[in-house]
Amino acid sequence: MPTMDIGIDLGTSNVLVYVRGRGIVINQPSVVAYDVYSKKILAIGAKAKKMIGKAPENIEVVRPLKKGVVFDLTITERMLKAFIKTAMEKRISVGRPKVCVCVPSGITEVERRAVEDAVYRTGAKTVYVLEEPLAAAIGTSIDINSARGSMVVDIGGGTTDIAVVSLGGTVESQSIKCAGDDYNAAMIKYIRRKYNLLIGEQTAENAKIAIGSVYERPEELTYTVKGRDLIRGLPKGITINANETIEAFSEPTMQILNAIHGILEVAPPELVADISVSGITLTGGGSLMYGMDKLIKEKTGIDTYVSDRALEAVVLGAGMAEDIPEYSRGTE
Ligand SMILES: Nc1ncnc2c1ncn2[C@@H]1O[C@H](COP(=O)(O)OP(=O)(O)OP(=O)(O)O)[C@@H](O)[C@H]1O
Ligand SMILES: [Mg+2]
Repeated sequence: MPTMDIGIDLGTSNVLVYVRGRGIVINQPSVVAYDVYSKKILAIGAKAKKMIGKAPENIEVVRPLKKGVVFDLTITERMLKAFIKTAMEKRISVGRPKVCVCVPSGITEVERRAVEDAVYRTGAKTVYVLEEPLAAAIGTSIDINSARGSMVVDIGGGTTDIAVVSLGGTVESQSIKCAGDDYNAAMIKYIRRKYNLLIGEQTAENAKIAIGSVYERPEELTYTVKGRDLIRGLPKGITINANETIEAFSEPTMQILNAIHGILEVAPPELVADISVSGITLTGGGSLMYGMDKLIKEKTGIDTYVSDRALEAVVLGAGMAEDIPEYSRGTE
């Protein structure tokens, strides 16, 4: 049951906003385009994302949150306010709303405060700040209050957050700065090294989503990427095979597997025993990569499932978060 009026997932790659009675009303990339001279915001979200790598000198296109931290606080605040303003207009209920916002795990106390204040300034009555993996667990229908421990791995754009939850809280957790963005970077690096071809970030992401794999695919699947030939300095296209990307992604994949292993090593044995029965739940866009579940299962021996709402779990969890004081830092 939703308890919040508004739930927000302030992600490194995507911002989602849930409004009680309406569902998810905003699902936009965390990208902002602004005029370098006047600082006027020109576009936010999908429209701004299309401008990445293509904007003229007077336009700066930024991702204000990067690697799970706030890279540009002023722009983050402006983006957040614009999204909340739209969400407020879509509300059914009246009065000042109760808002729960999930922030990247690497955020500092100062930035967390700033996000909270920005939400308060949009007219919120109470602001709750929730840890991302806990929200992901709630949003993917894990009973976090149960005494049986569960493990959630949220592979986002900037960070992978691993948490063991039990009795309403996080028992053990780790956040590593290795996630979807690093797979894009690994794709760029691999294609440059192997084919002497330089591709852009957006091309790399499109290729990753189309054919990226971390586990052998049974079928043959190819994708053509275009960029600049580094030897001749001219445009060129090459066709890559899905199974080649397993090798291209080996470094970020290894980091994620090691982090999961690390948590299993330090978690209390009773909870590890629970997880071996209940399995590992994957959320976040990165978990949609082909074979992520199969690979984790193979390496840990624990059944692993991708949430059927991998991209929405955090925002749904924010909307359903319990109205408990520990989550709220602010005053009314
Ligand atoms: N089908 C797919 N296959 C592989 N990767 C995908 C797929 N769909 C989305 N992604 C990747 O998922 C990432 C975005 O996931 P998500 O929206 O969960 O991140 P976020 O919540 O904004 O980031 P963070 O939690 O790190 O702040 C991007 O790197 C994107 O390329
Ligand atoms: Mg996220």
